[in-house]
Amino acid sequence: MRHLIDSLDLSVAETREILDLADRMAADPTAYAHCADGKILATLFYEPSTRTRLSFETAMLNLGGKTLGFAGAEQCSATKGETVADTARVVSCYADIIAMRHPKEGAPLRASMYSKIPVINAGDGGHNHPTQTMIDLLTIRQRKGHLDHLKVGFCGDLKFGRTVHSLVNSLVRYPENEFYFISPEELKVPDYLIEDTLKPAKALYHEVTSLEDTLPELDVLYMTRVQKERFFNEEDYIRLKDIYILDQEKLNLAKPDMPVLHPLPRVDEIATEVDNDPRAAYFQQVLNGKYIRMALILSLLGLTDPVTGKKVLSC
Ligand code: NCD
Repeated sequence: MRHLIDSLDLSVAETREILDLADRMAADPTAYAHCADGKILATLFYEPSTRTRLSFETAMLNLGGKTLGFAGAEQCSATKGETVADTARVVSCYADIIAMRHPKEGAPLRASMYSKIPVINAGDGGHNHPTQTMIDLLTIRQRKGHLDHLKVGFCGDLKFGRTVHSLVNSLVRYPENEFYFISPEELKVPDYLIEDTLKPAKALYHEVTSLEDTLPELDVLYMTRVQKERFFNEEDYIRLKDIYILDQEKLNLAKPDMPVLHPLPRVDEIATEVDNDPRAAYFQQVLNGKYIRMALILSLLGLTDPVTGKKVLSC
């Protein structure tokens, strides 16, 4: 049995297999409509979510399976003091696979140690968000045709943004990617990402503050929301929240084929006028989310791909 807790739980080859499967599912969804008949997905969401939870649910429904779960810690026995370990044991009796989002870093990992069914991390605190990373990789591959030799800019809250941490971890595994971290001093990427990921991989990286000056260099731009819920005081959040706003005038400085990614939800950091620019890729990411989660559910359940007749992951 395999879990997906960290984006590095999948090798580069396995990541490619999952992306290829998601592309096949997008091309012919009806071929996959009964793959998970009779299977149940439990969505255990202790933190707010729109896309991630609904896309997990629609993914399972599109595979023929069923879903159950809760949205909000106040709706489950966590309020009575139940541990994540016990909840995982209990839900293992009801479902075939779990998607868990939790405000505490490491909670899905802990659940996976006690669960009898595969656990997918749907975001844990400021740490990791591996399914969003798969979506980001698929979107970059669709737009650029490859995942290497790219100058990728990350802009906004690079300290608390878990999608940034997961994606950097994954992109350093592809040759010659170069990273531009655009943030204020207070929201820089955590030291561990530099010391444990970028330096050992000998990846080129730049920590800068100006979005305008950096934009012309980039092949891909990844915008992020300032993560209000992870700030310790409101004053700092208010001071930093509008620090970067991508509007059409700024986007005009970028290459004509530079996709703009954002995991969503957006607040003010991308002006709505940018939505009409062909470089806006964030709603394509949303659609990709459905197919990536279908691909991951099918693979982690150890089911056979009806189109190729093969299993995708060795479970
Ligand atoms: C992100 C998350 O939850 O980390 N959203 C998502 O899952 N698409 C980004 C965010 O909340 O800013």
